[in-house]
Amino acid sequence: MAESITIIDNRSGEQIEVPIINGGIDADEWGKLLPNIWFYDPAFGHTASCASAITELDGEKGILRYRGYPIEQLAEQSTYLEVAYLLINGELPTPEAYDTWVHDITYHTFLHENVRKKFMDGFHHDAHPMGVLVSTIAALSTFYNDAKNINEPEDRYKQIVRLIAKMPTMAAGAHRHSVGMPFVYPDNNLDFASNFLSMMWKVAEPKYEPDPVLSRALDVLFILHADHEQNCSTTAMRVVGSSLADPYVSTAAAAAALYGPRHGGANEAVVRMLTEIGSIDNVGEYLRRVKAGETRLQGFGHRVYKNYDPRAKIIKRTADEVFEVTGKNPLLDIALKLEEVALADEYFLSRKLYPNVDFYSGLIYQAMNFPIDMFPVLFAIPRTSGWLAHWVELLARDSRIARPRQLYDGVPQRDYLPLGQR
Ligand code: CMC
Repeated sequence: MAESITIIDNRSGEQIEVPIINGGIDADEWGKLLPNIWFYDPAFGHTASCASAITELDGEKGILRYRGYPIEQLAEQSTYLEVAYLLINGELPTPEAYDTWVHDITYHTFLHENVRKKFMDGFHHDAHPMGVLVSTIAALSTFYNDAKNINEPEDRYKQIVRLIAKMPTMAAGAHRHSVGMPFVYPDNNLDFASNFLSMMWKVAEPKYEPDPVLSRALDVLFILHADHEQNCSTTAMRVVGSSLADPYVSTAAAAAALYGPRHGGANEAVVRMLTEIGSIDNVGEYLRRVKAGETRLQGFGHRVYKNYDPRAKIIKRTADEVFEVTGKNPLLDIALKLEEVALADEYFLSRKLYPNVDFYSGLIYQAMNFPIDMFPVLFAIPRTSGWLAHWVELLARDSRIARPRQLYDGVPQRDYLPLGQR
């Protein structure tokens, strides 16, 4: 059977055969036969916006791989910083390259004092930490003029290191500001996740010693959230990056896209939902309301996964390890019951709605004492490496500026009536 499709223009009888390459067809070929006839695909549900060699996701089979490595192996054996290197450079680092990378990230964790004192301290006391984070990332653009040199590999490397390194510092700073606690400077003797925990929770002790189980759990969560191919925020990164804007404002745009409840805000919505349900006795009634279309089952369903999200399986295991240290999150029983009942229900099965990464991550964050407002921030920290990997790939492949078309369905031409005649 030919690996191609034939498009026939029934108005003229003209036809064109387009090869199917790598699961897609080249829209330029369509354009040759049918100029000015656009694909109508709001939300890009059927559009491959780019070719990419970073993350492979097969939603039907429940497969997720970074640069070919299964997410399960990375979560088990790697570290977040090694995964960040892998995503950006395409290969796992040699021991020497790894040491240099970890050293470079560790020694760029400090913020310029003006970023902290003038910007971060300037926000209102109850500012949402995600709003603070988005704005502060954008503000970094004004501190590093070399960020504009996006075609210089050395300058590009510097901004990548700065962004990955400073995200935890800005994230923890946003939290400390919102609770009126003094800012904690990075501790370069700690690993990436432990340093973040230190900046979050240190009070008066000379050195903060995080529980190694919690540090490792956070690092695993960072690995799981590091990339997820062309999701909403990565698309924002690519769209803004395609205008050749600098990586700080591009990352700020990506983080802004992550802020919404349909994307990075979903784990927050899960915890609020479980709190609202309140008891396993109310699970049946809640699912009735979901099926009646009155509300959604937060943390369920995914645009791409039509199977169990592989990240959700790993997170469930991580949750058990964390609860051994922190005690069980009382909302866990409600979550388990919801999952059990939903996965036996025709409504969810027929729509292929399974738990996604956010169904359990919020419970872990809550057990680790992170306030709900910090959940999207915790997502943004590791996703920064994914965004940057896509940005590097976009520049390397010399992509054109993103500029989709539209189908205009507004009012046709009409004449202007002066104000007094309307
Ligand atoms: N609860 C109940 N019904 C649902 C849900 C849900 N969570 N998700 C989808 N459906 C139904 C939907 O009503 C529709 O039914 P019908 O065909 O009868 O109209 C059908 O399933 C298809 O839904 P859709 O809205 O076309 O799916 P989508 O691909 O546009 O939306 C989604 C994907 C993730 C936004 C959606 O599943 C959702 O809102 N889930 C809850 C929020 C959530 O957990 N988001 C986190 C996503 S994973 C993390 C990330 O990538 O950021």
